[in-house]
Amino acid sequence: MAPRVIPVDPFDLVVFGATGDLAMRKIYPALYRRFVAGQMPPSARIIGAARADQSDAEFKDTVADHIRTALGPDVDKTELPGFLSTLAYVSVDANSDKGWPDLAAHLRADVTRCFYFSVAPSLFGPLAQNLHRWGLAGGDARVVVEKPFGHDLHSAKGLNRALAAHFDESQVYRIDHYLGKETVQNLMVIRFGNMLFEPLWNSQYVDHIQITVAESLTVAGRAAYYDGAGAMRDMVQNHLMQLLCLTAMEPPAKFEPQSVRDEKVKVIRALEPVQPHHIVRGQYEDGQGGGFRADVNNPKSHTESFVALKLSISNWRWAGTPFYLRTGKALSARASEIAVVFKDAPHSIFGPEAGRHANVLTIRLQPNEGITMGVTIKEPGPGGMRLMDVPLDMSFAKTLGPSSGSPTDAYERLIMDVIRGDQTLFMRADEVEAAWAWTDPIIAGWQARADVPKTYASGSSGPSDASLLMSRDGRAWRKITS
Ligand code: BG6
Repeated sequence: MAPRVIPVDPFDLVVFGATGDLAMRKIYPALYRRFVAGQMPPSARIIGAARADQSDAEFKDTVADHIRTALGPDVDKTELPGFLSTLAYVSVDANSDKGWPDLAAHLRADVTRCFYFSVAPSLFGPLAQNLHRWGLAGGDARVVVEKPFGHDLHSAKGLNRALAAHFDESQVYRIDHYLGKETVQNLMVIRFGNMLFEPLWNSQYVDHIQITVAESLTVAGRAAYYDGAGAMRDMVQNHLMQLLCLTAMEPPAKFEPQSVRDEKVKVIRALEPVQPHHIVRGQYEDGQGGGFRADVNNPKSHTESFVALKLSISNWRWAGTPFYLRTGKALSARASEIAVVFKDAPHSIFGPEAGRHANVLTIRLQPNEGITMGVTIKEPGPGGMRLMDVPLDMSFAKTLGPSSGSPTDAYERLIMDVIRGDQTLFMRADEVEAAWAWTDPIIAGWQARADVPKTYASGSSGPSDASLLMSRDGRAWRKITS
């Protein structure tokens, strides 16, 4: 099934941090693909802005190289020159006047204007201030900011204040790229577009929910950032929190920014503080003196590369249904899923020897996006009534055809949403702050107790204490498989 493409209006997109890793690996390849798809109009302009002095031609060459690296044989040579002709480069210093008049001269008055802050959070304030000072922030100009959005509640509030000083909240787009993933959006459609699931989506019928975001990659290459952040700040406070919100929230009145974000923030505010014995932190090691500590070049690091938590949501829908979350690096596979485990049937008419089986609805985020419903059937053949589980399996790639097998990258969707002015898939200021308000005491508790993460073998499914977290409750994690 070919995806439908609705072109966006002409725009000027300024990418601050134009020569950085994120811009090169994600932003330009995403824009290029939207250009090839016909969604980005040829009259759009992408203006790279960074401190370094370089010519337009040098900038274009670097972008072209990265697009080739990112997209490989996908790169259509006939389209690349057209895309590159939309690019320009301006040398701008966030902390001085250098380059701002030049940048202003590049911007057109009659098109949508967006500023992408692909820079360290410490530059958000100076950039916002300069945009205002040079008269570029007005109208419906949009500003896009990346995570990490602060490292605690205090710093996140500071960033929100720095942006709010010059931009209205309706102009600010805080990216969490998990919200741009195809299946994450499908989660909302599965819940609210079908009559089948929503009546069962509560503590009366759901035994528990597991959310897993497992990565096989290590932290090598991102040592300094990661050793200061850890899995709690890097993944749980944002990506896993968003998945939890979309799984647990009440139906919004409409699929529009304020309604959806109102419902998500209510979930975060209903989270109970987490008991220390409901959290497991882990750090990978390879058994030969290598592992996390070697990767971050810090032999005494107490930063976690794995977290598992048991959460409770105090509201009518979820009281009594635990949510188990886990995420980690250097695990056995790259596999992310949300598994809704339903309660057993109240009474088995088939007798104890037939066995009991719970239905599990699994929403696979990556890889192999799709949905599986575990259904209990009779084991075929003679020999009495024995029950077995079979998956009703819907792989999106298999069911919808090959084009859906490589869904639009999250960045492609999110950048186009910015241009369209749709904030639904972006985090609001109060949402980010609520997530930090919940996260901060957990991290403060670790620091106060000088908590040391449990070790786990690279390539395993995490520390054994994570299994205990489940087995104490008579439950088990689902296997991590890709
Ligand atoms: C990023 C984290 O936000 O998300 C990384 O900083 C992590 O540590 C990445 O690897 C995971 O994203 P994805 O899309 O590969 O699941």
